[in-house]
Amino acid sequence: MIGQLYEEALRGRPAVEIEDADGRRRPLPVGDWLALRPGDTGLLDRCAGATLDVGSGPGRLTVALAGRGLPVLGIDIAPSAVALAQAAGGPALCRDVFGRVPGAGRWRTVLLADGNIGIGGDPVVLVRRVAGLLAPGGRILVEVEPPGSGSRTEPLRLRAPGSVGEWFAWARVSADAIRGVAADSAVAVTEAWEEAGRWFVALSS
Ligand SMILES: C[S@@+](CC[C@H](N)C(=O)[O-])C[C@H]1O[C@@H](n2cnc3c(N)ncnc32)[C@H](O)[C@@H]1O
Repeated sequence: MIGQLYEEALRGRPAVEIEDADGRRRPLPVGDWLALRPGDTGLLDRCAGATLDVGSGPGRLTVALAGRGLPVLGIDIAPSAVALAQAAGGPALCRDVFGRVPGAGRWRTVLLADGNIGIGGDPVVLVRRVAGLLAPGGRILVEVEPPGSGSRTEPLRLRAPGSVGEWFAWARVSADAIRGVAADSAVAVTEAWEEAGRWFVALSS
C-alpha cells in the first residue's frame, strides 16, 4: 500500500502483490480504486456537507462527491495517488492524516473507505484522530470487514517481480468488532449497512 511499489502500481506497473508475514500473497487491488464499484453508492449517498476522504488514493470517491456538488477534499500520503485524483478533477492534497489537515474540526463527514480503517495499524488511534477532525454532529463512515473476522493488526509489504517494499502495519476490523474499537475511541456506531457484499458503519461522538 505504502511506498514506491504502490505508486508504480497506480501508474500501471503489473503484478504488484500484497504479502503478509506468513508469505501469503494476493494481488494489490488497484483496479478497485480506479473506478466506482458496487457498494460505493450507499457510501456516497450518506456523505453530507463538507467531506474529507482520508486515504483517497486515485480519488474515485473524491471525484464522485465533487461531481455531486459536495465540498470535498481527498488526502493521501502517496504523491502519485494525489496527482491522479487531481487530474480526474478531485480536490486532493498530499497530507498524512496524523499530520496537519486542513479544516480540522469542521468536517461534517470523514470517509475511511476501502479498508482505510487499517491506516497506521491501530484503529483506535486512527478513529480518535479523525473524530478530532469532525465538526460537532459529524460522522465517520467506515468500510469494515464482514462480520466474524475480529480485529487484528499485521505487517504487510508490497512486492513485484524484482522488487520488494518495506513492511508496514495495517489493521483489519470486522463489522462486529468495530463496536469495541468505537467504544475505546469514545464514539458510537450509529448506523451499519451492507451493500454488494461490502460492510460499512457510521460512527458519531
Ligand atoms: C486501500 S488504499 C485506498 C484507496 C482509496 N480509498 C481510493 O478510493 O482509491 C489506502 C490509501 O491510504 C493511503 N494512506 C496510507 N497511510 C496514510 C496516511 N497516514 N495518511 C493519508 N493517507 C494514507 C495510501 O497511500 C493509499 O492510497
